[in-house]
Amino acid sequence: MASVLIALVVAALSIKKGKAAPSPPSPRSCVQLEIPVSVDTVTTKWLQPRVDSSIDAVDWMSYMTTWTSPKGDAAILGNITVKQTFKINGQLCVPPKGAKSDILQLATHGVGFDKRYWDAEVKPQEYSYVEAVLAQGYSIFTYDRLGTGGSDKPDAYDILQTNVQVEILRGLTTLARSGKLVSSSKKLGGTSDDHVLKYKPKKIVHVGHSLGSVITLGLVGAYGAESDGAIATGFLYTNKLSTVNVATWGFQFARENDPVNFKDRGSGYVVQGTKYNTQLQFLKKGAFEPALLDYAFKIRQPNSVSEFVSIGGSFSGGEATNFKAPIQFVIGEHDYGFCAGDCNGTYNITMIKGLYPAATAVDVHIQPKTGHGLTLSTNATAGYKVSFDFLEKAGL
Ligand SMILES: *[C@@H]1O[C@H](CO)[C@@H](O)[C@H](O)[C@H]1NC(C)=O
Ligand SMILES: *[C@@H]1O[C@H](CO)[C@@H](O)[C@H](O)[C@H]1NC(C)=O
Ligand SMILES: *[C@@H]1O[C@H](CO)[C@@H](O)[C@H](O)[C@H]1NC(C)=O
Ligand SMILES: *[C@@H]1O[C@H](CO)[C@@H](O)[C@H](O)[C@H]1NC(C)=O
Repeated sequence: MASVLIALVVAALSIKKGKAAPSPPSPRSCVQLEIPVSVDTVTTKWLQPRVDSSIDAVDWMSYMTTWTSPKGDAAILGNITVKQTFKINGQLCVPPKGAKSDILQLATHGVGFDKRYWDAEVKPQEYSYVEAVLAQGYSIFTYDRLGTGGSDKPDAYDILQTNVQVEILRGLTTLARSGKLVSSSKKLGGTSDDHVLKYKPKKIVHVGHSLGSVITLGLVGAYGAESDGAIATGFLYTNKLSTVNVATWGFQFARENDPVNFKDRGSGYVVQGTKYNTQLQFLKKGAFEPALLDYAFKIRQPNSVSEFVSIGGSFSGGEATNFKAPIQFVIGEHDYGFCAGDCNGTYNITMIKGLYPAATAVDVHIQPKTGHGLTLSTNATAGYKVSFDFLEKAGL
């Protein structure tokens, strides 16, 4: 009897083991960097309340969504010149030499995260975009958007605005293209292999998520010739864009919400207060594992109030006439912020193609069942495959 039980348990364990243990991830060749990036641009002085407490944060959300609050030009108090060098924390990973290793994917994450958005530590083979990209043979550079992770955290009102982020992405693109990403930076760790340290890509594909896609499209619009391709994920031009307002984020003052992790965030940095605020924005029930919600909340990052207010201004206005490359938009079927929960019938492909008149291909992919947080949702890697196929077809 006992031996039968033991045999059953052993059999059950080996089945479980066989299922749960995918092949170990390939060792990576990556280098971690602190990159100085110079910016020379103009930001906007906005009329908006200051946020120095969570009571202020709620008041800011209330102000932003009150119908009589000044909007558009009426909320602009003036211009600010930003001429500054920022330290950006980034990671470059280069696979062994192959057909696609000369193509660099340059990824910009969105609100609520740092570069770990692209590289989940929970079940990396099912979720990590970095793993998937390297397995496909591409190189990839990820970085903490200004104001997050290990990057500088400047003034949240006058400096940390979306067009500053566009200029930083442009600076990183220029450095990467010249092969000087590593040599012009402080090396924080990682490989000493020359094929990474002296890496010089032939092509750069810009990848974004959410606000990172807004920044990516800002680059494509203003400096289109500097991009060889774009994948804008967690983004779509829809007729539901203003339906879901900023108050749904459940923002609190970052330093008050978590005085340990966010002690270096000053006035005007806000963060989603509970993990259920994270769920509402990023994850659709039925298409996520609870462990990934816990992870998303654990790695959450604050953003500045002015990043939200300045989103519109980062588009150069109108068409991206100098962008002569392929572009794909990828969005979860149930994206809350961009589609008000259902993307079906909310967009017009003819209109989108009109915004990219010189693009060599324009594609929209709706990832079934999924919410806004594509890399944290079940079936994520099948979605990545759709983008890789799109790039392949476009010769990238
Ligand atoms: C701000 O700068 C823009 C050009 O960048 C200009 O059109 C506008 O008049 C300026 N506004 C103010 C208030 O100085
Ligand atoms: C999209 O909406 C149309 C009606 O507006 C409906 O017929 C169709 O089944 C919907 N598709 C999906 C995938 O929900
Ligand atoms: C889609 O956009 C095009 C170009 O802007 C426009 O001509 C067309 O009427 C739009 N279609 C619908 C269904 O709104
Ligand atoms: C997973 O994603 C792929 C690519 O978008 C899609 O074809 C497939 O139907 C999805 N599977 C499920 C179960 O949603």
